[in-house]
Amino acid sequence: MKSPLLLLALLLPLAVAAQAPLKSSEVKQPDGWDRDLALTIPQDLNPDPHILEINLEAVIKEMEIVPGKKTKVWTYNGTLPGPLIKANVGDRLIVHFKNSLPMATSIHWHGLRVPNDMDGVPGMTQPMVEPGQTFTYDFVLPDAGTFWYHPHVDSAAQVGYGLYGALIVNDPNEPKIPGDELVLVFSDMSIDDNGELLGPKEGGRFGDLFGREGTVVLVNGKVLPTLTVRQGKQQRWRVINASRTRYFTLRYKRSPLVIVGSDGGLIEKSRTVDEIKLVPAERHDFVFTPPDAPNSEGVFKWYPTDRGFGSTYNRLAEDIMKIKTVNEPRVTPDPVPEQLRTIVPIDTRGAKEREMNLTIGYDRDDNVSMGINGVNYKDAPPIMAKVGTTEVWTIRNDTDFNHPFHLHGFFFQEVTPANGVMQWKDTIDVPQHTQKKIVVKFDDRPGMWMYHCHILDHADVGMMGHLHLIN
Ligand code: C2O
Ligand code: CU
Repeated sequence: MKSPLLLLALLLPLAVAAQAPLKSSEVKQPDGWDRDLALTIPQDLNPDPHILEINLEAVIKEMEIVPGKKTKVWTYNGTLPGPLIKANVGDRLIVHFKNSLPMATSIHWHGLRVPNDMDGVPGMTQPMVEPGQTFTYDFVLPDAGTFWYHPHVDSAAQVGYGLYGALIVNDPNEPKIPGDELVLVFSDMSIDDNGELLGPKEGGRFGDLFGREGTVVLVNGKVLPTLTVRQGKQQRWRVINASRTRYFTLRYKRSPLVIVGSDGGLIEKSRTVDEIKLVPAERHDFVFTPPDAPNSEGVFKWYPTDRGFGSTYNRLAEDIMKIKTVNEPRVTPDPVPEQLRTIVPIDTRGAKEREMNLTIGYDRDDNVSMGINGVNYKDAPPIMAKVGTTEVWTIRNDTDFNHPFHLHGFFFQEVTPANGVMQWKDTIDVPQHTQKKIVVKFDDRPGMWMYHCHILDHADVGMMGHLHLIN
């Protein structure tokens, strides 16, 4: 007869093997994990696999954003955010755009290196798209990354009313990042007690100065949606700040997030952080590893972010997304590659230097008048530059508010990159009473290109300029 001890010795390895956790890549996300958050995929009208051809209509749609209240939201194709445009690098995108709003509009493809006449700035790169009119956008997607689209007419009002959508460009040759993709568009909206949108000039002068933050925070157009996760099962979050003014600092119990991408695709090296910081128009990609024990619930929160005078005064953290961990055993996360890409610093020798001083003043009628180097956009002549040249811009901010600076059409680098990690940017925060130095090389796409503060209320009162790029 075998001894019970021997039997145990024989069975033990089996028991251990049965308990070894599976790897993240070996299991699926829980059923309905992104049900609250999935964005609408538009119908592709073109059979060519390398052409994505879609219809996009700007139209007002009544929706229930705040429970029990009806709000007339400005949308693309009736969804908030607009449809998720998703393609591969090198694909051609054709968008048949129709304006069914009561107001003129356009579409700007934020961060994309499009030909100048596709950049969506009426009066500068294309005619205004008046109510009832159409315009066809047609261009090749030159870079992989997380991008977005929004109007470039009365943008504080129109973006604030809901006109924005995500545009994701994948590169099948990039190093494999673990986790299932989830696009998260963070924004906010100003809705009154009757469910009506507040006027775009709400708060008058103070609103212009401070920028207008919405009364509700939205994640993919929803108030406090639920994300369902499994402990250890990774997700790749592509996050976009589509709000007109609000800065986002987001945390989930200080649990680690691995940052892998920025405005212009993958960053050079992945880096672990414990919060997401996102200024208006900025994007980042993260690998999120759900930390909680099976069968539990937590809340992902927005934290007050100091972006200048009074911006955190009397404000508390806000709940923005529920994280529900399913009752399944934990899985082991897969490693995130450290080296992601090589980004060669732009050679600054011989570069033209410019100073862009972001300024706030008042006009004769005592209205807030913002500008660059003291000149309001409506009085500003374009700056001139030549195709193929490199420029170093010192963006100075002596004001009491932060300003997220955005350049259309070109990626830039910080001369001294933050955290020592090389990355391509198109929007960069310039905190109050500091300066940032960026370097940009102009490729062969002549035309008029805008640059401005992406607090859209600031852009609207003049913190904007344009660059005339010539051959
Ligand atoms: Cu999203 Cu002129 O910018
Ligand atoms: Cu600003």
